[in-house]
Amino acid sequence: MQKATAKAPANIAFVKYWGKENDDLTLPCNNSISMNLRDLFTQTTVDFSPNYTSDEVAIGYFGESPTIVADKKRERVIRQLDRLRKLQGINTKAKVVSVNNFPAEVGIASSASAFAALTMAICNALNIKYDEKSLSILTRLGGSGSACRSIPAGFVEWEKGDKSENSFAHQIAPTDHWDLSDVILVVSKKSKKSTSLEGHKSAKSSPYFLSRLAELPTRLANVREAIKEKNLTKLGSELEKEAMSLHITALTSLPPIWYWEPETISVIKDVYLLRESGLEAYFTIDAGPNVHLICHSNDMKKVKNYFEGKTYLDSIFVSPIGDGAIALDQHLF
Ligand code: PMV
Repeated sequence: MQKATAKAPANIAFVKYWGKENDDLTLPCNNSISMNLRDLFTQTTVDFSPNYTSDEVAIGYFGESPTIVADKKRERVIRQLDRLRKLQGINTKAKVVSVNNFPAEVGIASSASAFAALTMAICNALNIKYDEKSLSILTRLGGSGSACRSIPAGFVEWEKGDKSENSFAHQIAPTDHWDLSDVILVVSKKSKKSTSLEGHKSAKSSPYFLSRLAELPTRLANVREAIKEKNLTKLGSELEKEAMSLHITALTSLPPIWYWEPETISVIKDVYLLRESGLEAYFTIDAGPNVHLICHSNDMKKVKNYFEGKTYLDSIFVSPIGDGAIALDQHLF
């Protein structure tokens, strides 16, 4: 038994995972494509010891002391511990400490980086042998499906598959293929009222869900092509259509889910003005009110400057594209 630490990035989906075919196995209704975010990450240390009588999970931000949690977050971590302990046929308890360098639960994919880092750290601590594909499968089973896309580096596609063994994430282009950045405009740090979990559950109740699924093969092909050709105009047009498609599905689900705040609309309107001024940046929005702007890394500072000082914003985070999950030698405790 031992201790291991892993670090994994958040990722931003260009084509989103929305709705599940199988809840228990986290099999999605469609393929999704994302880019990893180098500067938004989770670092997790897992320590198994026969001296521990129960599992302990602590979560926090870098620079602050992590707090021991006793809620749903703890349950989800323990489910992943249990799944992997079962693989090894052991019952040894663990201490888990997980720290983020960005706010959780505001639609910037904290669960993706958290579950990718957690899964890699558990596997390393328990000496579970894996390759990239099997690690992404084990990560997906943790329940935050998008986390499986934080395992490979760069631009990543999650093949939906039709059983556990063929639903995994793989790289479609390496990190240095195309220097894109994400400028994240945070309009609210308040915890989400509706989680993505609820959104996946109710997605199929939207009358637009099937037409969304019908559009996706073309959108996926266009996004793959735009990445291959490094064509931001083409990528951006698909990004914005995709974001609207997800949110229209959410808004028309039963019960309806409003992830947007009034400030979200103010940002979108300003993105149109930004483009009119000659700067190329395109929006996408996950299961939260915040807006991600994808642009060439060369333009990242200009895009950020444009939004700095806007009174409707709480804060701005930026990150270029990045690598996937990695093991670290230094532990958090
Ligand atoms: O992986 P989950 O269950 O947290 O769901 C992620 C949902 C979106 O962020 C909205 C889309 C995506 O593909 O990342």
